[in-house]
Amino acid sequence: MSKIDEFVEKYGVERKDTDSVKWDGMTENFGTNELLPMWVADMEFKGPEAMQQAMIKRVEHGAFGYSIVPDSYYEAFFNWQAERYQVNLEREWIRFSPGVVSSFFWMVNAFTAEQEGVIVLAPVYYPFYHSINDTNRLLVTSGLINEKGYFSIDYADFEAKIVENNVKLFIHCSPHNPVGRVWTAEEQNRLFDICLKHDVMIVSDEIHQDLTRQDHPHVAALALDEKYRSHLIVLNAPSKTFNLASLLNSHIVIADSELRKRYDAYANTTVKSVNSLFGMVATEAAYREGSQWLEGINDVIEHNFNSLKEIFAEKAPEIVLTEKEGTYLAWVDLRAYLKPDEVIDFMQVNCGIAVDYGEWFGEGYEGFIRINLGTLPKNVRFAATKIVEELAKR
Ligand SMILES: Cc1ncc(COP(=O)(O)O)c(C=O)c1O
Repeated sequence: MSKIDEFVEKYGVERKDTDSVKWDGMTENFGTNELLPMWVADMEFKGPEAMQQAMIKRVEHGAFGYSIVPDSYYEAFFNWQAERYQVNLEREWIRFSPGVVSSFFWMVNAFTAEQEGVIVLAPVYYPFYHSINDTNRLLVTSGLINEKGYFSIDYADFEAKIVENNVKLFIHCSPHNPVGRVWTAEEQNRLFDICLKHDVMIVSDEIHQDLTRQDHPHVAALALDEKYRSHLIVLNAPSKTFNLASLLNSHIVIADSELRKRYDAYANTTVKSVNSLFGMVATEAAYREGSQWLEGINDVIEHNFNSLKEIFAEKAPEIVLTEKEGTYLAWVDLRAYLKPDEVIDFMQVNCGIAVDYGEWFGEGYEGFIRINLGTLPKNVRFAATKIVEELAKR
C-alpha cells in the first residue's frame, strides 16, 4: 500500500451527518446539501492520534471549569514555531482568540477608526473584506498580477493605493488563500518596507503556514527584520493544520510592547475571551506529536493537486490551474471554456459539486473556482473527471 493510501485509510473519515458545515451546511450557499462538497477549507481527515487521546483523557476527568494556559502549552507551541519557522516567541507576546477571523475583525476595530483605509491584496479570503466593510472602514484593494495563473504583487500599485487612501492597516494573507502563493522573504520585505514608510500597521494572517510544499517553506513575518515588529501583529492557529476549527483556539502574537498596550486597551473593553480548554488540549498534543501526521497530510494534498493537474492537462488543457505552493486549495480559471455567468450552473447542476466561486474572493474573478484538496483522493479524482467530462459535452 502506498504512503498516501495508508494515510487515507487510517485518518480518512465520513463527515456527512456530523453537523459539518462543509457537508451538512451547504444549503445556505448552494441551495441544497446534495452536492459533493469541495468548498470551505475543512478536511475529511481525523487529526493525529495523540490529539484525540489527549482529549479523551481530559473528557474522562469530567470537570470543565475555567482553565489556565499551562506552561506545557506554551512550550509545545513555541517549539513548533522555533523549529519550523525560526521564530522565538515570548509568553507576554501571546493573546488568544476563538479564531483568526474574529482576530482580524478585532484588529481592524482596535487599530483603525471608521472610514479609515484598510488594504488587502486581491483576490483574497472573503472574510477579509467583511472585516473592513462590516466595520465601516474604507476597503482598499491592490490587485495581484496574474500571469498565466502565477500571481505576484504590484508594489507600485500597493504603495499608490496606500498613499491615495491614507491607508492605516494592511491585512496580509501568508500563505495566500486563494492563489496558493507562499510569499518569499524578499516579497514580504518589499511589502513591509512600504508599510513602514507610510506608517501602515500589518496584520499577518499565517493560518496556512504549516500547509506548504517542501520546496516552498513558509517565511514567518516574525522571522524577518525586527524593525517590522513596531507595526506587526501575527495571527496563527492550529485549526487549518490539524482540522480543529470548531475547538475555537487561535493565537494573536504581538512582539511590540506599545502595540500590546493598544490591543489590550481595546480587548479590556470588548473581547474578554476565555480560553477553550479542548482547543488547548488538542493543540498542545498536536504540536507535540503531530509532525509525522502533518507530513502525511501534506503528501496527500500534493498527490491530490497532481491528480487534478494531470486530469485537467489531459482532457481540458485550456483550464488554467494555478501552481500551488501552499494551502490546500486549488485556484482554477475556467474562462477558456465557460462564460463567467455559466460557472455556477455548470458546477452545481452539471457537475453536482460545491466549490468556492471566484467572485467571492474579489471583483473580476468571475469564472474562477477554488477547489478544496484536503480530502480523500477519490473525491478529487471524481471532481476533476466530472468537470472535464461535462466540459467535453458542451
Ligand atoms: C486565510 C484564512 N484566515 C482565516 C481562516 C479561518 O480562521 P478561523 O476558523 O480561525 O476563524 C481561514 C479559513 O479558511 C483562512 O483561509
